[in-house]
Amino acid sequence: MRRKMAAGNWKMNGTRANLVEIDALIRDHGAAKSEVLICPPATLIHAMSGRADARIAVGAQDCHMSAAGAHTGDVSAEMLADVGASHVITGHSERRADHGESDADVAAKTAAVWAAGLVAIVCIGETLAQRKSGDTLNVIGAQLAGSIPDGATGANTVIAYEPVWAIGTGEVATVGQIAEVHDFIRAELAARFGAKAADTLRLLYGGSVKPANAAEIFATSNVDGALVGGASLKAADFGGIIAALDAA
Ligand code: 13P
Repeated sequence: MRRKMAAGNWKMNGTRANLVEIDALIRDHGAAKSEVLICPPATLIHAMSGRADARIAVGAQDCHMSAAGAHTGDVSAEMLADVGASHVITGHSERRADHGESDADVAAKTAAVWAAGLVAIVCIGETLAQRKSGDTLNVIGAQLAGSIPDGATGANTVIAYEPVWAIGTGEVATVGQIAEVHDFIRAELAARFGAKAADTLRLLYGGSVKPANAAEIFATSNVDGALVGGASLKAADFGGIIAALDAA
């Protein structure tokens, strides 16, 4: 059985004043059935992990592919582990777009996350132009094959399907669109890693998930949770999503 997961990605938002949101999440959802993860900006990981104890996991939004070295401004997975991160998002579409990260870069970062003993949350997703031209499953298949190294298991990897056109736009993929892609991802994983291993890998949906649409999304085939941007910034909103996931 795959444990459901509610993951929040704060992106480039938040200062120490926002750590009170973690106190509220622990108070109201510290005993959630689902695994709860928040990925704040790197500057907040240490303080948040100290505050969150074991009931809420804290992760990072990116890491460098090397463990150490002359890479000014970068942070390695080992360093993130050192300050209390247990997970690292790799291949988010904003990093692919803003920093030109290729599938090969994402695979190297994912391997670095594993080498540090952390869990990678590998993101994939098509653009609107790719969907409109009927390329969605080709794009997803290629990203999946190229972004995940051999050796993925449910213990070291979570996959997030985030259609680029649904991120921060208020436009959510339909249940039919989500089911089609998630079923496809599960089948591709089974073909590559074997049905048994594929069955342990959690698949999150991301893109304008809110308390109001969460229940419908969580009832969708092969959806094991969500990767949430805007609605993870406030404990009240994210709490509504956690509650919907626990009830699914
Ligand atoms: P929104 O929930 O703000 O659409 O962001 C989704 C996302 O990119 C999470 O990684």
